[in-house]
Amino acid sequence: MKNPEKSDKMVVTLDGPAASGKSTTARLVAKEMGWLYLDTGAMYRAMAVKVLDEGIPLDDPEAIGAMARRTKMTLKASDEGTRVFLDGVEVTHRIRTPEVDRAVGPVCEVPVVREVLVALQREIGKKGSLVAEGRDMGTVVFPDADLKFYVIASIEARARRRRIDMERQGISVSLDELIHEIERRDRRDSERTHSPLRPAGDAGLLDTSEMTLEQQVGTVVQKIHRKMAR
Ligand code: DC
Repeated sequence: MKNPEKSDKMVVTLDGPAASGKSTTARLVAKEMGWLYLDTGAMYRAMAVKVLDEGIPLDDPEAIGAMARRTKMTLKASDEGTRVFLDGVEVTHRIRTPEVDRAVGPVCEVPVVREVLVALQREIGKKGSLVAEGRDMGTVVFPDADLKFYVIASIEARARRRRIDMERQGISVSLDELIHEIERRDRRDSERTHSPLRPAGDAGLLDTSEMTLEQQVGTVVQKIHRKMAR
């Protein structure tokens, strides 16, 4: 039976390394539940687009932080994922280029950028039930989340998935190259000073190496229903 004292709003977090399967899983779980989907990687990527557009040097955290403070970011849900706008201008289709992949590392490490985006993420979290996906959702942004997942997969499975994504975009890259790139990003995400990637103490581990997308979504949805029934 549902506890009538408890608020109906639920927050579910999915954190984990790049290409672990968390983005697609989070988006489809949110769709199935009819909840908001919060893609926080898209937010850091959008800030990186603006840094590049304004020609701000990647080694100038003060200028990057000042830009973040004066930028108004808005997000809109769509069937393909989250649409991102900076000061009213859509940047959705510009956030996943190799140039942004390279720039987002230094940009997301700037404390002011994190402060601005964490505040916005919590603001969005007040609007209703949501599935929030990123690196620090369960540890920093929503420490009181109802359910937390730490999504992992073997490096080979992650590289294979990344290769399929890239082939769809007409880009061919060797598996070895992708493994190397993923290892580099893992190191960067987990060794940084601010909000490094690590599992929340109360997060459940979801290893997607041998799972289909349907199984990943099904596992999370089942746990949500179990939690809601309590
Ligand atoms: O998940 P993604 O590849 O779109 O994330 C892009 C970058 O943003 C990646 O370098 C990690 C960073 N990020 C972060 O620092 N904190 C988050 N909550 C989400 C992403």
